Amino acid sequence: MERILRVNGGKPLTGEITVRGAKNFVPKAMVASLLGTQPSVLSNVPRIRDVDVVSELLTLHGVRVNYDPGAGTITLDPSNVESAHVADIDALAGSSRIPILFCGPLLHRLGEAFIPDLGGCNIGGRPIDFHLDTLRRFGAEVTRTETGTHISAKNGLKGTKIHLPYPSVGATEQTLLTAVMAEGLTELSGAAIEPEIMDLINVLQKMGAIMSVDTDRTIRIEGVKELSGFRHTSLPDRIEAASWASAALATKGDIFVRGAHQPDMTTFLNTYRKVGGAFDISDEGIHFWHPGGELNSIVLETNVHPGFMTDWQQPLVVALTQARGLSIMHETVYEDRLGFTSALKEMGANIQTYRECLGGLQCRFGQRNYRHSAVISGPTPLRAADITVPDLRGGFSYLIAALAAEGTSRVYGIDVISRGYEHFLSKLRALNADVELEN
Ligand code: EPZ
Repeated sequence: MERILRVNGGKPLTGEITVRGAKNFVPKAMVASLLGTQPSVLSNVPRIRDVDVVSELLTLHGVRVNYDPGAGTITLDPSNVESAHVADIDALAGSSRIPILFCGPLLHRLGEAFIPDLGGCNIGGRPIDFHLDTLRRFGAEVTRTETGTHISAKNGLKGTKIHLPYPSVGATEQTLLTAVMAEGLTELSGAAIEPEIMDLINVLQKMGAIMSVDTDRTIRIEGVKELSGFRHTSLPDRIEAASWASAALATKGDIFVRGAHQPDMTTFLNTYRKVGGAFDISDEGIHFWHPGGELNSIVLETNVHPGFMTDWQQPLVVALTQARGLSIMHETVYEDRLGFTSALKEMGANIQTYRECLGGLQCRFGQRNYRHSAVISGPTPLRAADITVPDLRGGFSYLIAALAAEGTSRVYGIDVISRGYEHFLSKLRALNADVELEN
């Protein structure tokens, strides 16, 4: 049964929380362990649903998984990788997009695999055409079935040239996880170069891979015959850190985010400063606070790294409802990520969405009937409401809105949030939030 969180808002969030490993890296490193002949150990692993899903999927394929949530370490022994039953995979994978990344490793280990149709947040079509085209370029046979995709490569995989039409994070990971043991050289141009991608390259290099990343987004990989295990500590979750920073702004609070890492957040920090937020950086983390006075409205466009990350915009939009003047936000990564603004409007926010590109960036969604730009006029006091979580980041932004609003809100379907925010209820309580589970 879906859990309901009662939030008594209108109080500043103050205190300290810790962010651990990045949700958009840890599951990928776990999949990479499939390629190794030795066990791997991953540290700084958060207790989130996506880690559980991938642990179960790996176990299904014969990997021995030992997970110590307290210590945040996971040991993965891929000695006996075997095929899994389609029905079992199907039952598990529902809520995650990670299964598609099993393709390369399973083709190298078993010569074939079945990948069920993917889950993931409803923020756009979430196609996998780049992934399937990439696998075909390596020589795999890819057959779509009504419940998923069957792939095989009985004659092995060969290095190739791949150009991504868009710097897709997932398609870049797909290429890396396949190229590392393909025969010969692979050249990937138009690659994503997010910090999570660079950490996956660190892991693969530790396993024995040979890879280089050029400044023009071209990644070159020389295939090797064998990879060993790895020992690695995950980079911290920059999306979670930015989400709590936005919560500090929206609630006029003061939060120390232990574990936050400045180099991964440069663009967010610049934007935070422009909005009027204050922050102080130390080796242990980043202290974020609302310095008092008014917040400034801004023009914001999301982009691939090193631009302003799309996953940062939804929590920040809640803070922008409290900024003086008109803020303009142009979402260029996902076509349908502004649905969450309707609930904010019910709470008193003054937000208008547009199908036009309200920004200077080249965007795939102009004139295609997607409402992917927004104008936010503030400040507008937010009032409590009953709201249902639409997706992971939208859900967290609803939490922030309920915490900022005067009165008691009920947030329905909060378990979606635990897919990407470890122990978020205990963190809210550590920040003096007045929240109570209703059932
Ligand atoms: C990853 O998703 C992240 N998820 C997303 O975080 C993140 O927003 C996104 O990268 C962009 O940084 C994980 O790592 C699990 P993409 P991914 O492939 O890999 C189009 C969160 O809340 N595209 O970079 O699925 C796609 O439609 C989540 O933590 C194709 O057209 O994103 C989108 O418009 C949300 N065909 C754009 O590329 C393809 O085959 C970016 O998608 C693949 C992607």
